Amino acid sequence: MNIFNQTNFANLSLKNRLWRSATWLGMADNQGYVTDRVKEEYRKLSKGGVGNIIVEFTNILEEEKTYPGILSLATDKHILGMSELAKIIHENNTNAFVQIGYGGSTTSMPIEGREILGPSAVPNISTGIVPKEMNEADIKKIVNGMAEAALRAKNANFDGVEIHAAHGYLFSQFLSPYFNQRTDNYGGSITNRGRIILESLDAMRKKVGSQYPILIKMHCDDQWGDKGLSVEDSIKLAKELEKRGITAIEFSGGNIDNQTGNSPLKPKLHKIEDQSYFKDEVRKIAEELSVPVILVGGNRNVELMNHILNNSKIQYFALSRTLLSEPDLPNKWMENPEKKPRCVSCNNCWAEGGNNCIIDRKKRA
Ligand SMILES: Cc1cc2nc3c(=O)[nH]c(=O)nc-3n(C[C@H](O)[C@H](O)[C@H](O)COP(=O)(O)O)c2cc1C
Ligand code: SF4
Repeated sequence: MNIFNQTNFANLSLKNRLWRSATWLGMADNQGYVTDRVKEEYRKLSKGGVGNIIVEFTNILEEEKTYPGILSLATDKHILGMSELAKIIHENNTNAFVQIGYGGSTTSMPIEGREILGPSAVPNISTGIVPKEMNEADIKKIVNGMAEAALRAKNANFDGVEIHAAHGYLFSQFLSPYFNQRTDNYGGSITNRGRIILESLDAMRKKVGSQYPILIKMHCDDQWGDKGLSVEDSIKLAKELEKRGITAIEFSGGNIDNQTGNSPLKPKLHKIEDQSYFKDEVRKIAEELSVPVILVGGNRNVELMNHILNNSKIQYFALSRTLLSEPDLPNKWMENPEKKPRCVSCNNCWAEGGNNCIIDRKKRA
């Protein structure tokens, strides 16, 4: 098996095993509509050889805005622009997915005039924001928001949606015993902490039908001791998601409190032993599952990915920073599998007015 093999995935044919992991570009307008810049970035990506593109974190509620320039699927009015985006991706023989979710207290936008929801009123270590502890009506609002947004993605001709349950946003906070201190049905055991995600999946399935691909991005391990999700909890939740019809699971990981320096985006990945850095945890989880598993985090070497592919049940590989720096890296790898990515994992991708690689910013300066 090779990462450039064609495979079948749900009702789709994937031209290779490479995915572009959801990567917030910050180029939408201030109401979350697709702009020409967004289209241009995805045009470049879809021409670059990656088989499957997961369009970045997209908000599900009108009042919610996690970051500047974030995309939205909160209203039917957003469908047109998103359908134009899906069309551009499809024109280049690439599958189009979109990640949807609710940010909550992990946000860089002003909170004045907004209600910030969370599992419990626990201050966010990174932002200091104390969310409102969600009541049952708030939980329903999020569950319905996820289902409505998934239907809009389907109506915009996306090939599937991905639930964002990673990286310290709302669903990932529900999974963490530190952020989730509830004593009702939504706190305590992993089934309870995962309940809002399971209910969202059920509601999404009702809207989009049994065949439409629904993925989830979640952690293999928060690497945060008792405060975070463990590999064992992750396996239990993944099995439950599988029972309820999840199509595939993309596993990230790392600490959801970005102050502790153990982030899902590990820096300085020059040595091969530092790359594909969640492979051991994810290999263990994949053993327990039947649905396809996608590994994300530090995938930057073709030989290593092929080795993982042939020596575990991990079937797919997602990339973020390397494609931000070099959208045509998969095409280059097909010509020369030994090519080293241009990205040096320095984690300077964030820029006001739109995220991009610092190497390009320096070139322009
Ligand atoms: C600029 C930037 C924006 C990101 N935005 C998202 C996002 O919208 N959703 C998400 O799940 N992860 C996001 N991530 C994390 C990546 O998808 C990925 O999990 C992480 O960067 C590790 O993969 P890599 O080593 O290939 O970069 C972002 C990363 C970067 C660098
Ligand atoms: S700024 Fe460029 S080189 Fe640095 S991590 Fe981001 S994409 Fe890679």
